Amino acid sequence: MSFKLTVTSDLPSPPVRLTTLGMIPERFRQYCALQIHAGPGDAFFGMRACLSWQETKRQEVEEAIVNLWGGANHSIPLLSVRSGLHLLLQTLSLPRGSEVLISALNIPDIPAILELHGLVCIPVDLSINTLHVDMQQLRSAVTSRSRMIFIAHVYGARNDMTEIVRIAREHGLFLVEDCAEALDSSQYQGHPDVDVSLFSFGPIKYATAFQGAIMKVKEEELCRRLRKQHARWSGQRTVSYFFRCLKFFILTCLQRPFPLWLIIFILRLLGVDHQRLFVGLVRSFGRHVSPHHLLRKVARRPCLALLRSMLVRMERHLNGGNQDNRTCGMKMVKLLQPLVGSNILLPGLDASSHSFWIFPILVKNPRSLVTKLQADGIDASTGSTQITLVKRTRRRRTKGEEEEARSRRRGEEEVEKGARRREGGEEEEEEEEEEERLPCVKWMMEHIIFLPVSRYESHERLKRIASRVMEHVRPEAMATMSDLRPWRR
Ligand SMILES: Cc1ncc(COP(=O)(O)O)c(C=O)c1O
Repeated sequence: MSFKLTVTSDLPSPPVRLTTLGMIPERFRQYCALQIHAGPGDAFFGMRACLSWQETKRQEVEEAIVNLWGGANHSIPLLSVRSGLHLLLQTLSLPRGSEVLISALNIPDIPAILELHGLVCIPVDLSINTLHVDMQQLRSAVTSRSRMIFIAHVYGARNDMTEIVRIAREHGLFLVEDCAEALDSSQYQGHPDVDVSLFSFGPIKYATAFQGAIMKVKEEELCRRLRKQHARWSGQRTVSYFFRCLKFFILTCLQRPFPLWLIIFILRLLGVDHQRLFVGLVRSFGRHVSPHHLLRKVARRPCLALLRSMLVRMERHLNGGNQDNRTCGMKMVKLLQPLVGSNILLPGLDASSHSFWIFPILVKNPRSLVTKLQADGIDASTGSTQITLVKRTRRRRTKGEEEEARSRRRGEEEVEKGARRREGGEEEEEEEEEEERLPCVKWMMEHIIFLPVSRYESHERLKRIASRVMEHVRPEAMATMSDLRPWRR
């Protein structure tokens, strides 16, 4: 069954137009490392879809979506990737204390959801060259309590899952592939032997519908159970999707070099950190007061208007209409080449595929480089995404230990001081352990910055960014063995 919808393709390409017209001088233009890959027309389409109540069309739209992803027996449209993970864990009901071997970079909500289901996260280190998990460490992390492997492709780098599928089969582990950041022009729809693959249509993704996700499921029986559980969830309120689209209508209108420059200029005068503000604005679920609050927010079925937006974006995506940053990313790699390996490292450059969804570089002094680039009008940042290091789940205290801690709190000041010293010591020990277990990821997080490299930039602009970066990092070679150690792994 096919479902016909029309929408104006209004992808933002104004930076190029403005450059051609030469209307606004370069110093009054600003580009961000984060992009909303949609235009006001897409947001307007979402708002319009909220106004046409035709719930009878729901099944038709859902069918059209799943038909693009292997059919109703193998895919489910969802509110978000986080919703998909929560739904999966509700359905699988793994025993509490089961271990999940998880690639060590992800957004904080992913390990939080795993832990809320009583699971223990065991992070596995990544190789800096590929951003793929360290196979040796993955193998040695398997224990009798392991039940799941959870692998995320990050920053637009994607790696072949075949070896991981083999490890999962050998040990009878459930395998989840988090492709939230990997819905690029390669049209990858998940490894055929992975149990579940999750794709996001969230605000800053290439095929954004400002929200939404799709879950691809290998086993028909599991897909049926997931659908049954999903049907029990309440629906998303159309009005909340309407206001989300309205917000992104405004943001996409402002996502042009001159308005951006002006906004950032005013925010700086007011002493507001614009990067923090932007990351906050494009967050899918805002701040949550508690982890349980997060679960309540994600456990909803998408409204019809969101499904319609997703369908339009998917059709455009599968027709090759979703361009990614591949070409300009490779251009930037070439421009930086003279200092790559000595002063700059490029994570994920050896991955099986790289769309440069975001452009991270590793340098010796990230903070000072960001300050210098910002002074040059280049909006580099140290935290363009929420991606961070996944921490190992702390072992829960036994009843006896809980009692002891309570009496310690009640106890005299000296005892309390001692306890604090002990707790501080424990934290330090954990930090040290982490450094030993996750040397590459930890090192990477300490040296990373993100450059504003996207397909909306002109070649001239890319050249300017590259030359400023190289000028600043040239005297800062990462020449010591300990700095280069992770790169060589
Ligand atoms: C690696 C990764 N996993 C999961 C998610 C969550 O996706 P969603 O917003 O669809 O829940 C994101 C989104 O930022 C992500 O980058």
